[in-house]
Amino acid sequence: MPEKVYDRPTIVKNPVGLMNKVGRRGDLSSRAEVDAVPVDRLCAEFGSPLFVFSERRLRARVREARAALRRGYPETRLCWSYKTNYLDAICAIFAQEGSLSEVVSGMEYDKARRLGVEGSQIVFNGPAKTYDELARAVAEGAILHADHTEELRVIERIGAEQGVVPRVGIRVGVDVGIHPRWDRFGFALENGDAMDAVRRIVRGGRLRLGGLHAHIGTFVLDASAYGRLATELLGFADAIAAEHGVSPTHLDVGGGFASNNTLREQYHAGALTPPITEYAEEIIAAFARHTGPTLPLLVETGRALVDDSGTLLATVVASKRLADGRRALVIDAGVNVLFTSWWYRLGLSPASSVDGFVQDTTVYGPLCMNIDCVRESIALPDLRAGDHLVIHPVGAYTFTQSMQFIKLRPACVLIAETGEPELIRRAETLEDLVGPEVLPERLRAPAAARSSRSGESS
Ligand SMILES: Cc1ncc(COP(=O)(O)O)c(C=O)c1O
Repeated sequence: MPEKVYDRPTIVKNPVGLMNKVGRRGDLSSRAEVDAVPVDRLCAEFGSPLFVFSERRLRARVREARAALRRGYPETRLCWSYKTNYLDAICAIFAQEGSLSEVVSGMEYDKARRLGVEGSQIVFNGPAKTYDELARAVAEGAILHADHTEELRVIERIGAEQGVVPRVGIRVGVDVGIHPRWDRFGFALENGDAMDAVRRIVRGGRLRLGGLHAHIGTFVLDASAYGRLATELLGFADAIAAEHGVSPTHLDVGGGFASNNTLREQYHAGALTPPITEYAEEIIAAFARHTGPTLPLLVETGRALVDDSGTLLATVVASKRLADGRRALVIDAGVNVLFTSWWYRLGLSPASSVDGFVQDTTVYGPLCMNIDCVRESIALPDLRAGDHLVIHPVGAYTFTQSMQFIKLRPACVLIAETGEPELIRRAETLEDLVGPEVLPERLRAPAAARSSRSGESS
């Protein structure tokens, strides 16, 4: 018989479950399985916390997006934005689905190459590419988008050194009414910087014109912004053709489609997110209105494709009452592995069935820091140490932004289409943390020996 826990009675106001004028908060439900695999089994086999990715869901999302875009514009390619989730298994699934690899650093570039992706299948973006990274990308024929004039200068030099005329596109900064505007990236269209960059490429004789790239922001809830963006880029392509007699090799509208997640300030879970078809229709309509040459279209949407494929399983460490009587839980996963909980109200469901009394609960992570709060307020039943929680969706940015702060990173598992869980990243060990460290010889002596040598021992 399980041990009974005594809870000192407390009187607290319990507003949980009440309606307000926009309805009942849809927070409370249990989830005992991920892709039909029991949560208890996953935690027993692979430990807790545990990232779990659904291959079935991921492939379905990619295919849905690809079909939605190609239905109206067959010359479309998806580009997998590595930073969103660069676990090898996830990137390999995207490559199998025919996506190009979109990278923004030498590290991501190397990761794609290590996975066997050809240079010509890599889109290299980013504001701070180094000389060596650019030299390799030029030699390997990567699709380059320059962010600023300094980069154009470096690529010109690399071309001269390698005896080639590199093809280079530019990132264009476009105002399509999305705020804050990400104008720190690329060449602004309105002030003529973008045309000046094209002029330098086309007339300079040391470069050839590649594509026009833009990325207007992230979690953009207004799908019509992509129609305006595509229209602006197509208009700019026409202006380039008129002035220089050349066309860009492609247009790349970047990413930024919202995922089925819930912003902290949002009331109903996921309710604001447009379906991916709506973004696709906006882009396609702009291309359909355009009368110039057919230009290949690249789309780098990240979070919208992967977010709801990712789940984090966690375990309750302790249940306690705060000074004012509110219920609090300490769980084994905090902001160290849930960085995204800063701006999302992540879904959090008990793995066991929810019945009976629920109460307002604050959920804290395991870090010895007051900021480590996963949910400030959520209606939860009376959970106890050892109970599992299912946190969702966490497929986008959550793993790549996780940190080894106080604790090591947990394992990652992929549930294959067959329904079998496969380990895709083992839990980290202390060696993964200290491996790169170098302890100078003079600091190697044990602390006790050191203090006695310096005469400090008592
Ligand atoms: C250039 C570029 N492309 C694509 C993405 C993916 O964005 P999202 O995950 O919002 O779709 C990003 C993310 O910041 C980016 O910087």
